[in-house]
Amino acid sequence: MGRLNGKVAVITGAASGMGRATAARFAGEGASIVVADLNAEGGEAAVRECRENGGHAVFQQTDVAAEAAIEAAIDRAIKEFGRLDVMFNNAGLAGALGALEQTSAENWDRTIAVLLRSVFFGIKHAIPAMRRAGGGSIISTASVAGLRGGAGPIVYSVAKAGVIHLTKCAAIDLGPDRIRVNCICPGGINTPLVQKLIPGGEPVVQQIFDTIQPIPRAGTGDDIAGMALYLASDDSQWVTGTAMVVDGGLMAGGNLLGGGASSPYAGSAQWSGPSFEPK
Ligand SMILES: NC(=O)c1ccc[n+]([C@@H]2O[C@H](COP(=O)([O-])OP(=O)(O)OC[C@H]3O[C@@H](n4cnc5c(N)ncnc54)[C@H](O)[C@@H]3O)[C@@H](O)[C@H]2O)c1
Repeated sequence: MGRLNGKVAVITGAASGMGRATAARFAGEGASIVVADLNAEGGEAAVRECRENGGHAVFQQTDVAAEAAIEAAIDRAIKEFGRLDVMFNNAGLAGALGALEQTSAENWDRTIAVLLRSVFFGIKHAIPAMRRAGGGSIISTASVAGLRGGAGPIVYSVAKAGVIHLTKCAAIDLGPDRIRVNCICPGGINTPLVQKLIPGGEPVVQQIFDTIQPIPRAGTGDDIAGMALYLASDDSQWVTGTAMVVDGGLMAGGNLLGGGASSPYAGSAQWSGPSFEPK
């Protein structure tokens, strides 16, 4: 008996990294999943993995910056699987990079649209379907960068702080409907997002993330999938409004990488887009 038997989830950013690991884990626990991402190739591969793990899954091409696309992903869940129990707002990119005085208004807006406005859309459009289902679990991926400065690019960090606060505000409103709203704050996870961002890519990221926090290894998508599974399952029935830190102890005492003008990220680049797109 799986921990998510009969539950239906929409997972944005599920073509890669922690979203993909979560989709595979949810499928193995009996869930049906809409894999929602910009990246069709990665999304179809994620669907195959979900099916190999014994779950039902479909791919829905989705740009989370567009309200209608998020609404369509939720409609797809209802059309294919009849209901919505779990909305995981997880898609992301690094977005605007570098010093604030060189950050354009356009890059600010694009970053906030993908990382924060998308979470508002995900919550907003999950509500009616979850009310009909008698409740549900909304999970969003924030970051340790949203808990303090100096742990990621500046606009990214501001957006993630917004995700944490939106989580708390929405949890208050939606508690009476038995709709729980929580977010996850990952630390250093070796995924394509950071492999694209940090010069030298995957091996350099591995080297850095193996050492920055008390537990001496980089985080993996599976580390986040474990927390997402807990928040999606009935084990967390009385848990809402939280920001769950999954960081190997980084926030307890670790070595942050910095984020703005002094950032080690990406040299003089001003922007880092979705991880599947060329640099
Ligand atoms: N990797 C880390 O160290 C780390 C730490 C803290 C938080 N996060 C957050 O975790 C989440 C997942 O990132 P990841 O590390 O697994 O990276 P990833 O690049 O492997 O996965 C992110 C996915 O989001 C998709 N995406 C990007 N823009 C999109 C858009 N506009 N519409 C739909 N899909 C879009 C990408 O195609 C990709 O499949 C992000 O929100 C990220 O900010 C990552």
